[in-house]
Amino acid sequence: MGATRIAVRAVTVTLLVVLAVSLAGGAAVPVVVTVEGEGRLVGVGGEGGRPIALGGRPHNLAVTPDGRAWVTDEAAPRVWVVEPSTGSVATLPIRGTRPHGIAATRDGARVLVASEGDARLEQFDAASRTPLGALTLPAAAHNVAVAPDGRTAWLTAPGADRLFAVALPALTLVRDVSIPGGPHDLAVTPGGREVWVTLWRAHEVVVVGTDDGQVRGRWPAGRTPHHLAVSPDGGQVWVTNHASGDVAVFDVTSRQLRARLAVGGSPHHVAFAPDGTRAYVVGEAAGELVEVEVASGRVLGRTPVGQAPPRGGRAPSMRRVRRGAAVLGAAALAVGAVWYASRPEPPRAIVLPVLGPEAQDGKAAFDRHCAPCHGANAAGSATGPPLVHRTYHPALHADVTFELAVRRGVRAHDWRFGDMPPLPDVAPADVARITEYIRALQRANGIS
Ligand code: HEC
Repeated sequence: MGATRIAVRAVTVTLLVVLAVSLAGGAAVPVVVTVEGEGRLVGVGGEGGRPIALGGRPHNLAVTPDGRAWVTDEAAPRVWVVEPSTGSVATLPIRGTRPHGIAATRDGARVLVASEGDARLEQFDAASRTPLGALTLPAAAHNVAVAPDGRTAWLTAPGADRLFAVALPALTLVRDVSIPGGPHDLAVTPGGREVWVTLWRAHEVVVVGTDDGQVRGRWPAGRTPHHLAVSPDGGQVWVTNHASGDVAVFDVTSRQLRARLAVGGSPHHVAFAPDGTRAYVVGEAAGELVEVEVASGRVLGRTPVGQAPPRGGRAPSMRRVRRGAAVLGAAALAVGAVWYASRPEPPRAIVLPVLGPEAQDGKAAFDRHCAPCHGANAAGSATGPPLVHRTYHPALHADVTFELAVRRGVRAHDWRFGDMPPLPDVAPADVARITEYIRALQRANGIS
């Protein structure tokens, strides 16, 4: 097993990518969402969950049947393997540059990673995380989907307007199909007979037969169709239309557009609950996860998962998306996954460092103003999160965050304690000392 470490990198603005869903025995367990701009993984649903800090630019993800989430980092040649039930993160270095698409075989035995920087497709043994070979494709692939029998991987190459099929586990190219219109995301139907592909430039979906690689037909979907998902019974395909803010619902057998659901907010990724009663759509503009009742098309709820783009900002334009500056990716199912933070956290033992004079003053101010919520030694309490926590690693929350938190307050976004109010009585000089105190505590506890 690879070295376990927490990868941390400077974060940029917000964008998010979706992820996976899990409903076990009717009890909601988390939908997993990657929040690219904030460098983390969030669990929504069930009892909710504390975010898992990854750093970098976590992008697409695949969830294997054991509940592990495999996440590509757009910012570095690596993949994270996350165990949501414990929050542990292992970093797996890969050879490909700019990893993007990722998919697991249905049995969870193997994971495929497509890198856009060098058109490489890599295959890993999921249990041991060892490489099982690589193939250089004729053009860079963006998204990858594995056929239900695990014997073929299908890949979109939007820059080259092509669709590839690669035999598994041999990793040999068996089809190279020309598909004009910007093939973006793809899904193989549960019976394995068809691949549905979004064409974001042509604003259509195209259906390709898996036996002969022939195009069966193309149908208008909406403005800039991005991602898609096939319902677990194989009856419907849901397509997110980024620019028109809706989801197109297609009947797989008749290919008819059955409904257009106005979910708003630049819908991006989509995933179905395993029992097929609910679908989850990531609304990129508002940074939210939208829960939709499949039978009625009704929006049941919206949960914030990341910050919306800066005020006055807009969802990324297709041009940015095309350059890879924004978010794209695939959805997966986290059947049986339990989000670690949905369990009560055990009280945390904090290592107490020797404090310099500034930090000592900081401790006094912290105890007076902040400890009522953030707890003694910043270990957290019933009303506020621990600050001695990797979420507040200096690379993820720079010092200026403390200043801003105290001056402006904090809208609840990382946790479920509610908002932090502004604290006008705490002087800026005290905030600087408090920050120094917290950083000293963090360093003593391995967060640096
Ligand atoms: C009334 C309770 C309360 C008090 C008092 C309080 N905080 Fe907070 N603070 C919170 C909560 C709740 C959050 C988490 C919000 C979220 O979900 O991200 C938070 C988050 C933060 C963050 C993270 C900000 C971010 O951008 O994510 C910092 C830094 C912080 N607090 C510093 C302080 C400092 C310093 C003090 C004392 C001067 C203080 N807090 C006092 C409740 C409190």
